[in-house]
Amino acid sequence: MSQPSLEISGVTAGYGHGRPPALREVSLSVQPGEIFGLLGPNGAGKSTLLACVEGLHRPSAGTVTVGGLDVQRRPEAAKRLLGIQLQKTALLDDLTVGELLEVYAALYEVYLTPAQTDEFLARFGLREHRRALARRLSGGQQQRLALALAVANDPQIVLLDEPTSALDPHARRAVWDNIRRMHDEGRTIVLTTHAMEEAEALCGRVAIIDQGRIVACDTPAQLVAGLGAHPVLKAAIELPLAEARALPGVRAAHYAGQHLELETAEPQATLAALQAYAAQTGRGLSDVRLRQPNLEDVFLALTGRALAAAAAL
Ligand SMILES: Nc1ncnc2c1ncn2[C@@H]1O[C@H](COP(=O)(O)OP(=O)(O)OP(=O)(O)O)[C@@H](O)[C@H]1O
Ligand SMILES: [Mg+2]
Repeated sequence: MSQPSLEISGVTAGYGHGRPPALREVSLSVQPGEIFGLLGPNGAGKSTLLACVEGLHRPSAGTVTVGGLDVQRRPEAAKRLLGIQLQKTALLDDLTVGELLEVYAALYEVYLTPAQTDEFLARFGLREHRRALARRLSGGQQQRLALALAVANDPQIVLLDEPTSALDPHARRAVWDNIRRMHDEGRTIVLTTHAMEEAEALCGRVAIIDQGRIVACDTPAQLVAGLGAHPVLKAAIELPLAEARALPGVRAAHYAGQHLELETAEPQATLAALQAYAAQTGRGLSDVRLRQPNLEDVFLALTGRALAAAAAL
């Protein structure tokens, strides 16, 4: 069997005495060809974990290997396998896009011809910006440039720390496409995010991280299935809760504002019964929606807090 791309074992790491550790006995392994997500709220320890992999932060206990190489003992060899996008990319302001790419590649002793620079930038939709100063790019263009710089050394493993934070949906999708392309090129991708829809859209497996611990790790579908939760049928209708609970398929019912929310094992039967009730009683039924359980529910079930609320802490 091939080496895991990443093997993290029993890593504990922090920022000095008197502070609680930022990571507590974290273990996980990422196989070649995965897109692996670290999903967790602000302060969960995602960036610290990537810094331990990058050799930028020294764990107080545990080991990290990259492609079988211990990052403490073989830092130079390990780094050659890695492409890195930090959470905050300080782009050298007075260089153009093309110059930045050439500088990054040269750091790894890769010297690009102008044609190679053009071809490379075209992959990230930045070819026409080659002569633009990096600081003049839009937020989305800067994020794509950060991705381009992360693969300038043709790495096997790419670590992306919040590659789409603060982007609008359109720019976010463009970055997702670029990440999928890197994956299609055969690279292993590890990314952090606090957006569960991003983890669901991109990642084959996800580790949910909270307060320095991995609380779950699996495919998004398995994480959701493991909850055993039912879909929720939401509708604006006036119906006494006792009657709602007696509808076919309904496991739980409550009101959220004007909306009745029904957890149901048989959404179609429940909806048909609601429609029949509305027709018989002449009451209005509107704004009907069905929501499948998602990673947000998994986070809530595992930590007792909503992902969005935890992020605001
Ligand atoms: N340089 C530092 N000095 C002291 N404490 C730090 C430092 N960097 C991070 N921490 C603390 O370590 C913990 C984990 O932080 P980390 O940046 O790894 O979280 P994160 O999951 O990346 O959060 P975010 O989603 O906000 O980027 C937090 O409690 C944070 O306050
Ligand atoms: Mg971070």
